[in-house]
Amino acid sequence: MNILVAGGAGYIGSHAVYELIERGFDVVVLDNLVKGHKAAVHKDAKLYVGDLRDDSITDKVFKENKIDTLIDFAAFSLVGESVSKPLKYYENNVYGTLRLLSAMNKFGVNKIVFSSTAAAYGEPDTDIINENCTTSPTNPYGETKLAVEKMLKWCDSAYGIKYVALRYFNAAGAHISGKIGEDHYPESHLIPITLQTALNIREKMFIFGNDYDTPDGTCVRDYIHVTDLADAHIKALSKLSETMTSGIYNLGNGKGFSVKEVIDTAKKITGRDFPVEIEKRRAGDPSRLVASSEKAQKELKWSPKFDSLDKIIETAWNWHLNNPKGYL
Ligand code: UFG
Repeated sequence: MNILVAGGAGYIGSHAVYELIERGFDVVVLDNLVKGHKAAVHKDAKLYVGDLRDDSITDKVFKENKIDTLIDFAAFSLVGESVSKPLKYYENNVYGTLRLLSAMNKFGVNKIVFSSTAAAYGEPDTDIINENCTTSPTNPYGETKLAVEKMLKWCDSAYGIKYVALRYFNAAGAHISGKIGEDHYPESHLIPITLQTALNIREKMFIFGNDYDTPDGTCVRDYIHVTDLADAHIKALSKLSETMTSGIYNLGNGKGFSVKEVIDTAKKITGRDFPVEIEKRRAGDPSRLVASSEKAQKELKWSPKFDSLDKIIETAWNWHLNNPKGYL
């Protein structure tokens, strides 16, 4: 079965490609390599370098390969940047997926798994977020993902394109083989920044705000291993093939860890101490985001294997230690 993975050279996409190939799928990757890395693409995947907004490349991919299902990871995902450059986000994330859906419609492909986000919720007034919570994004990144979810809904009713949208909480960790991991430029995520500080690549790191209404005053997040996310995409593919019904699912571990707890755990795992300073709050950060993934557990038969922060950080550390400069 041929699966087209848009954005398969990115952090989560490349891990999904590894899982797909390990489980015997034939994988075609389409990535413009603006954020993704060629070296992250599994050697057995067929890579096309091009942009979703360029119909000539998507036409070529669909003509040269009998695509059964799509997985779409291709998007910009920096929350802060999305606030200062919203049009860049709408152009890439919404228009890019719009062109992809047009190509699907044109070539008669009717199943897609879409990479959505917890940022679609904004700041719900609840301890544990389920899929029935109100969606009210606090930044353009979350808005663009929610806009695509809505576009998918209408494409389902008009063209019969069935979809599963997966709302990830905080993706973290690296492939157990150590071959691929997290490498963003610029890096803004907590765990890679913490590990880069442990490696002395950064002389110190900052905690953005310790005056939140949380047990230790720092923000709480639900960290979910990237291979568990990859596994959920494969389970979503199976569900789509078996039931041809669309759905939206949260993916998280259901446990919240504060920024301080993450840093303390990283110090324990790495066996290294490093300077940490308190900075003012980062704009747009919700105090607490923790998922209920009960729906995914029940309907997709998915459950996270990397269910502790220690295990997640261990795999990330293995990658950073062996690849201090990422894919460079
Ligand atoms: N943080 C620090 N110092 C740093 C980096 C981050 O204190 O140097 C804090 C942030 O302020 C936040 C927490 O660590 O409180 C986690 O921050 P990340 O940047 O790692 O992740 P976010 O929760 O901001 O965002 C992530 C993804 C988004 C997604 C969101 C959904 O990056 O794409 O989860 O929950 F939308």
